[in-house]
Amino acid sequence: PSILILNGPNLNLLGAREPQIYGAATLADIEKMCAEAAARLGLTVECLQSNHEGALIDAVHAARGKHDGIVINAGAYTHSSLAIADALSAVGLPVAEVHLSNIHKREAVRHHSFIAPVSVGMICGFGPIGYVLALEALTQHLTL
Ligand code: DQA
Repeated sequence: PSILILNGPNLNLLGAREPQIYGAATLADIEKMCAEAAARLGLTVECLQSNHEGALIDAVHAARGKHDGIVINAGAYTHSSLAIADALSAVGLPVAEVHLSNIHKREAVRHHSFIAPVSVGMICGFGPIGYVLALEALTQHLTL
């Protein structure tokens, strides 16, 4: 199986960005962890980060016929983008939603996710390992 790993706005700054919330790992570190997990799980992964809502939507569309599932941390678009949720819904691939921080422990505005209703499930609060857990969960989901 092939999985698209999508990261949204400001996640390119991981490592430097509010490390007390998001930790010390960079996005490159996380993508390396994902590549290692993919090799172990027999997955092909493609990693993509964008700060632009439309670029994320284009990437979701391009996953049609190319990938078997999507791992997405949409960053703040999680809480605002009906358009990204619609794209995920339109494409219909199984989605695993990931957040480094526990969004439910934070400000109320972060408690609602537009992505959650179009996802198989969500992993939040466990930091970078959440991406690995999401890959494992999607693998399991795809082979059921
Ligand atoms: C985040 C949580 C969001 O609320 C925030 O806007 C982010 C990162 C996380 O991974 O914890 O950019 O998605």
